[in-house]
Amino acid sequence: MKKRIVLYKRLSDDLMARLREQVEVTWVDTAQADGLARLRDALPGAHGLLGASLRLDASLLDLAPTLEVVASVSVGVDNYDIPELTRRGVMLTNTPDVLTETTADTGFALILATARRVVELANWVRDGHWQANLGPAHFGSDVHGKTLGIIGMGRIGEALARRAAAGFGMRVLYHSQRTKPDVEARYGARQCSLAGLLQQADFVCLTVPLNAATEGLIGARELALMKPEAILVNISRGRVVDEPALIEALRTRRIRAAGLDVFVQEPLSQTSPLLQLDNVVATPHIGSATEETRHAMARCAVDNLLAALAGERPAHLVNEVRGR
Ligand code: DGY
Repeated sequence: MKKRIVLYKRLSDDLMARLREQVEVTWVDTAQADGLARLRDALPGAHGLLGASLRLDASLLDLAPTLEVVASVSVGVDNYDIPELTRRGVMLTNTPDVLTETTADTGFALILATARRVVELANWVRDGHWQANLGPAHFGSDVHGKTLGIIGMGRIGEALARRAAAGFGMRVLYHSQRTKPDVEARYGARQCSLAGLLQQADFVCLTVPLNAATEGLIGARELALMKPEAILVNISRGRVVDEPALIEALRTRRIRAAGLDVFVQEPLSQTSPLLQLDNVVATPHIGSATEETRHAMARCAVDNLLAALAGERPAHLVNEVRGR
């Protein structure tokens, strides 16, 4: 008999067909008002779960005693209680690598958009204000030749370093637990203390995963160390930054601008003070959101899930589960 999985993320037809060949699929649209209730109804007897952006708490896991694997369509796994999954013998898989380049592109999109005031000035044109040549009040700042400080030198950090050094002639500083001799040799990157990076960088880009050590990493004290003309870009997780402290730093022009793809609360509330500030570019967590990359992530999650259910070790296993 086929094993049964609960799918809570829409997949393309090719991936649906692939799944249906091997497993019985119950689809739950968690975006619907009754989505969570439907998920609860679907969990008993499920062997696998595949989706993203759902906080899988103990009360949900209690409903799924036969669960073997959760295949997340994300690289970040901060939504999951990993020790609890491991205790229950449930494997967790994620989708690294395939989103690295796209997420680094998003980082650079925010660097360019904030420095060159792309969104603000495009709206200004749309609103009919372009009546004469631009003056200094509308000038931005250069990106090429500046210093990029990368906090977190993992795959995405390295992809940013490559773009910065090879494409924009930037000096690259990084702050990371581990020294990366390869990145230093290839891109001339230099490892720094957090304070040293914040004091020197023209652009500070956050790429760390969210965990106990990185939550609130950038607060009032860290923002105060940044140069007044510096720009903060966050493509990691909203909770890495103390959002009220950032709002204050932007409101008082303590720093020049921020490009933010992630927020403490997502979706971002329309009443967020961030949306009142013309020195903020806010995007709706688009880090990996291209057709090609989201398809590759979903394919990777399907591969992980099917391998786990076939008794094989999935390629991207996050937790070691005894007996698997
Ligand atoms: C991830 O994969 O963790 C990205 O944030 C996209 O959701």
